[in-house]
Amino acid sequence: MLNGWVVSVVFITLLVSLCNPRGVSDIKTLDFSQTHTHTLFSFLSTLQYDFYRESCPNAENIVRSSVANIYSHHHDISASLLRLFFHDCFIQGCDASILLDPITGDETYSTEKQAIPNLTLKGFHEIDQIKEELERVCPRVVSCADILSLATRDAVVLAGGPFYPVFTGRRDSTRAYFKEAMADMPRPDDSINRTLYLFATRGLDERDMVSLLGAHNIGKIGCQFILNRLYNFSGTNLPDPSIDPEFLNQMRSKCQEKENNDNSGSQDHMSPASSPVSKEASVEKLRRSTLDMSYFQELSSALSSEGGFDTHYYKSLLSGRGLLYADQQLMANEKTGRLVQGYASDDGSTFRRDFARAMVKLSVLDVLTGSQGQIRERCGY
Ligand code: HEM
Ligand SMILES: *[C@@H]1O[C@H](CO)[C@@H](O)[C@H](O)[C@H]1NC(C)=O
Ligand SMILES: *[C@@H]1O[C@H](CO)[C@@H](O)[C@H](O)[C@H]1NC(C)=O
Repeated sequence: MLNGWVVSVVFITLLVSLCNPRGVSDIKTLDFSQTHTHTLFSFLSTLQYDFYRESCPNAENIVRSSVANIYSHHHDISASLLRLFFHDCFIQGCDASILLDPITGDETYSTEKQAIPNLTLKGFHEIDQIKEELERVCPRVVSCADILSLATRDAVVLAGGPFYPVFTGRRDSTRAYFKEAMADMPRPDDSINRTLYLFATRGLDERDMVSLLGAHNIGKIGCQFILNRLYNFSGTNLPDPSIDPEFLNQMRSKCQEKENNDNSGSQDHMSPASSPVSKEASVEKLRRSTLDMSYFQELSSALSSEGGFDTHYYKSLLSGRGLLYADQQLMANEKTGRLVQGYASDDGSTFRRDFARAMVKLSVLDVLTGSQGQIRERCGY
């Protein structure tokens, strides 16, 4: 079983490095006197099992125990880290670029953190905390990208999710990717075609995408992401007709239009094309509204379930009770609809198996290795 994992991770890593522009630059720096086997092997060793076994043998234990400690006080760490990790890997790879803070005094929007889809991300402080612990034991050795990858896996397991192997040896980016994050993060109002396209450009197929979206089994969502669906779908001044009517009433009672000063909803918030002035205004508005906890509802309350990594997300989609438009859109495509049906129809083991595999794929996207990038001393700098 474990062997199967190792082989598939190595294989995926190989595939990913072959299709990845950063991988291509690896090829250029290879010593061509090496045999073909060595060349192949240097791809295989981009990420390794227990990369820090000599340089910081306790690294993975330290991450695991810090996450367990944080989780014991704040169960929501699992959802925070899982989403943070997704946002990191989806834009320019799992390189901790999402963790970079804006340069002091730089008022232009330049880091990914500041990109609108990331404004409600959480877990930064917790990653800093774990990094500090590691810096005390092994200064400048363990990358922030590996910390985020390992901590996310550990937090997923604590929340009742499946275990999956995380290979290590990632390095940290030297910059953030604001423009890319604005353009390429999937939006809550995206159609299934757009979402499929965004995942496919990262080598993630329908099965990967539908299982990864099962992350929405856990966590919370701000009303601002669904207000348009509830009150003014695509500018029609009507709700999204695909919402089950009873569920519409339930959601409306939790997310009232009048609470939002002017109902500009998620489409405007997420628009990368708006002018700098209106962007600033909507960023500020989004910040304000997400600070107010009354805007949040449990994602898992879509069905009466205690939540966790089970089938309730998929069951809710089958009954037209997806929270985000992008969630419910999984039912608008034959292939993704069939996958939803499949995941909803057993005890959750198919979903959990596929989720684990897809997380492995996500966690090796466009990684920096070897002498690429850097090892940050603090994850925000
Ligand atoms: C079409 C793709 C996706 C879209 C449009 C999307 C959008 C969103 C939105 C709008 C929220 C609510 C954020 C808030 O209210 O602050 C959310 C929450 C969340 N998302 Fe996604 N997401 C997508 C895919 C994913 C994937 C692939 C993962 C992980 C593998 C993920 C993990 C999460 C988690 C765990 C939360 C809850 C966060 C928390 O409670 O702190 N999402 N997502
Ligand atoms: C989405 O893609 C499918 C297949 O590629 C196509 O038939 C359909 O018309 C597209 N739908 C929209 C709304 O663009
Ligand atoms: C509904 O959305 C449209 C287009 O986004 C907008 O022009 C209109 O003002 C909105 N209606 C209300 C009542 O907010």
